[in-house]
Amino acid sequence: MDHLDGLPRPDVDIAWAERIAASEFGVAGAARELGSQQDRNFLIDERTTPGRKFLLKVNNPVFARAEIDAQNAVMATLAAAGLTVPEPQPSLDGGLVASVLIDGVPHDVRLLSFVPGEPLIDSEHLSDRAAAQLGDLAGRVSRALSGIEHPGLDRWLQWDLRNAQQVVAELVRFVDDPPRRAVIEEAVAEASARLQRVAADLRVQAVHADLTDDNVVVSRDESGSPIIDGVIDFGDSSLGWRVAELAVACSPVFHHSPSRPLAVLPVIAAFDAVQPLTDAEIDALWPLMVLRGAVLVVSGAQQVAIDPGNDYASSADEREWRMLAVPAGFDADIATAAIRRRLGRPMPPRTDLAAGLGIGRMIDASAVEIVDLGYSSRELRDGAWLDDPEGEENRVLAIAAAEAGTVAATRFAEARLTRSAVNDREAPRNVALALDVALPGGSTLVAPFDGELKPFGDSVLLVGSVDPSAVSSTISPPAVSDLSVLVSVLISGIADPVFGPVARGEAIGVSAARLRVWLATGEIRSAPPRFVPLEELDGWESRFLDPAPLLGSGRPTRRPRPDSARELARRDAAYDPLQEHYYSAPPQIERGWREHLIDVDGRHYLDMVNNVATLGHGHPRIAEVAADQWRMLNTNSRFHYSAVTELSERLLATLPAEARAAGTGLDTVLLVNSGTEAVDLALRLTKAFSGRDDVLCLSESYHGWSLASDAVSTSVSDNPIADETRAPWVHVTPTPNAFRGAHRGSGAGAAYSAEAIAQLRTLAEAGTPIGTFIAEPRQGNAGAIEVPGGYFAAVWDEVRRGGGVVICDEVQVGYGRQGDVFWGFQQHTDPEGRILVPDVITVAKAMGNGHPLGAVITRREIVDALAAQGSFFSSAGGSTLSSRIGVAVLEIMEDEALQANAARIGSHLRTRLEGLAERHPMIGAVHGRGLYMGAELVRDRTTLEPAPAETVAICERFRELGVIVQPTGDRQNILKVKPPLCISQDSADFFVDTLDEILRAGW
Ligand SMILES: Cc1ncc(COP(=O)(O)O)c(C=O)c1O
Repeated sequence: MDHLDGLPRPDVDIAWAERIAASEFGVAGAARELGSQQDRNFLIDERTTPGRKFLLKVNNPVFARAEIDAQNAVMATLAAAGLTVPEPQPSLDGGLVASVLIDGVPHDVRLLSFVPGEPLIDSEHLSDRAAAQLGDLAGRVSRALSGIEHPGLDRWLQWDLRNAQQVVAELVRFVDDPPRRAVIEEAVAEASARLQRVAADLRVQAVHADLTDDNVVVSRDESGSPIIDGVIDFGDSSLGWRVAELAVACSPVFHHSPSRPLAVLPVIAAFDAVQPLTDAEIDALWPLMVLRGAVLVVSGAQQVAIDPGNDYASSADEREWRMLAVPAGFDADIATAAIRRRLGRPMPPRTDLAAGLGIGRMIDASAVEIVDLGYSSRELRDGAWLDDPEGEENRVLAIAAAEAGTVAATRFAEARLTRSAVNDREAPRNVALALDVALPGGSTLVAPFDGELKPFGDSVLLVGSVDPSAVSSTISPPAVSDLSVLVSVLISGIADPVFGPVARGEAIGVSAARLRVWLATGEIRSAPPRFVPLEELDGWESRFLDPAPLLGSGRPTRRPRPDSARELARRDAAYDPLQEHYYSAPPQIERGWREHLIDVDGRHYLDMVNNVATLGHGHPRIAEVAADQWRMLNTNSRFHYSAVTELSERLLATLPAEARAAGTGLDTVLLVNSGTEAVDLALRLTKAFSGRDDVLCLSESYHGWSLASDAVSTSVSDNPIADETRAPWVHVTPTPNAFRGAHRGSGAGAAYSAEAIAQLRTLAEAGTPIGTFIAEPRQGNAGAIEVPGGYFAAVWDEVRRGGGVVICDEVQVGYGRQGDVFWGFQQHTDPEGRILVPDVITVAKAMGNGHPLGAVITRREIVDALAAQGSFFSSAGGSTLSSRIGVAVLEIMEDEALQANAARIGSHLRTRLEGLAERHPMIGAVHGRGLYMGAELVRDRTTLEPAPAETVAICERFRELGVIVQPTGDRQNILKVKPPLCISQDSADFFVDTLDEILRAGW
């Protein structure tokens, strides 16, 4: 065996490197040492051409010249194939390699062009996209190298996975920790045995052999996401197994976040798309990843032992351990099956397989009721599944068993709601591999096939064979031989088991009131999981089957998983895409509970955007009110019923005393179905009252979609051609943004209002005096931007003195959301400190908690002006049902103190977000208050250059980590923070901690 004694790096320093770069290659520059395990690498920054960099590589003298030449040939091959690789530079005497004496020993030295970028290892988070790029790169390298031959490639290297078992056996003694040594030895023995079965069929070719995250160079796209575009370090180029190139590239995935075993699937799929894998290579892949991890760990331990000063080697310790521990801790058969499915290779049929095997019943029941514990369960209610999963499952089973009079069972492969958690960054481990069965205690259980009953921990295991001829002929040959021989049932909840051989139909024991059963092909050897993450199901299903036949049922218990992508295509076909949806591949959300949204896989997302569901999702009292009122009556307000009065009175009662002053106060309500309708109606009222058509509004605003409300909506992110298509009666004044607008800081209110006042005067002088000024009390659409002090006082005063009136659009930011006040206008005062009261308020969204409900609150004299043009009627506005719901929302807000919660959690959120801003310069500002906030993301705190691409990417990453949050504002660089008002402090912290994690680990 060569080189296994360890290779101390050549003993040279920076001054030497600078000298050699100049004397051998004619490059004068400053040197800096870069890491290497066995060589010495120096970065040379050329003095004469700033920015031009080279890598001076001093090879370990154990490597022969032919090996160095081979590396150069590999680089040239990859460069010709269009890959970004270093280019060897000629030395002063014309060759690509110079020979230099160090301590009297000749060393090969090369100067390579420097591939700019950062190593992938610096990106802690590795997205699926980046993982796929890594696989694609490895595939392209492998394809390009498949044709190259060079004598210097035929070498013995400890990194060649063909030598892995031998290398580990030799070097494992350097691992100090005995338990770790045991893990390594066991993992390597198992992986080597697996590999043995296919090794003869593995193709050998030239390989880079070290396509790790250290040797892959990335640049960044506009959003800051990595683009993998370069390969460096050809020191391990050699002959090796083609599939080992991929195994090596997969390995680093295990130490990045997320560190899930199957996070490597995108790497493998992308490689296979370029360099298709054979069946033998697929079978070899997982064991090779284990071996790669083991070789890294033992070699690292050896390197530290012989070269204690090598920080590069010792800092890799824990990382390398994960590269072994993650794949070694995951079942290789399951992993291989998951890989096959991902690559679209033939797999055994699944759901109907158990029935096809001719397995008999185990339970004697005339009927079995199958319960629903997934997202669509109507029996799981009011979030109880989060408090007591097992208890809730048992309750649902018991009800079903009682109803059916006999037996009830759960579903195989169901993503259970009960096994999900809120505020979890990982997808839940909630897909059931076992069935839970409720049955009369004391029932006799019979053997479903001939076999032997054995003890298995607290459970029993029946292992037997079934008739392979019953298996459908569509199963591919290797699968048949796997499946045909052995089947096992693992049963827990059995008393008086009859151990030993049993024939089909013979009693095997007596059941408790609850049974849990797994059915598997092959013998179950270690305790199987009850639940697995959805990502792993494809793999686990290669071994575990739907135990439906044991229940005596020909019907699978398994229900097809909703095909969300197909649903989305159906949506796009039938429901016009003009009505956009969040995300390009959105989760299918079919349920909600409080501040959480739940998808069809039971995953709970924290909902940071739903200011409509102000009480939270799935509120039981609203559900009861709606059901009750539907049974009683639902009609329109031309009929006389009390609910419409009660809602109107309650709305008026929410106004502060100043707004209700007798004679001049807001005293009347009109009910509609949405914010748009409220704004549209408000504009009709103010135009009629003022007798003027012209309206002044703020830039960056949104007020609705109808002709009139859209005309005063100025946001270019909602309508990119808003500026060019403006109606002549609409006039726009800049939104008073004191953070990034034309006027900033303490004088901003006065400066912006002076501008607006000048505009009002110009319009009046031009013969088009405005009749209406419309604005939100805080610029919600613009990103929760505060309207600076004094602005409204001055502008409203000018509007009114000119004969106009003021609409305050509270649709988005009002109704208790800001915490300290119920209405946004209450935050604005005149110079004497009196609250500024608008002439018209528009409100919707929160008013109905998602039920279509909106209102205009104004003065009777303003409405009277419209009376001349006829009465106002909305078929569903203020209906019996809507009014009841509107009243219930106000009652619940009060009973659950939601406005106070908005104040409390809002101030906590602000403090925490401001704390984050101290650590993450990308957070340029935190706007807003209560539960209407915006975190503004910038590329530069001085120029305030917005970060829109980053904001989108961060929102995508939030979704992966279980948080729904969206960009807002004309620059789309503000994270809008407007969750249901019932949000808990834990959830608020989860949001902030997740943002912290994203900004730290990348996206
Ligand atoms: C300030 C403001 N006004 C009006 C509307 C329109 O409300 P709706 O969507 O209920 O028609 C919105 C909607 O986002 C809004 O934010």
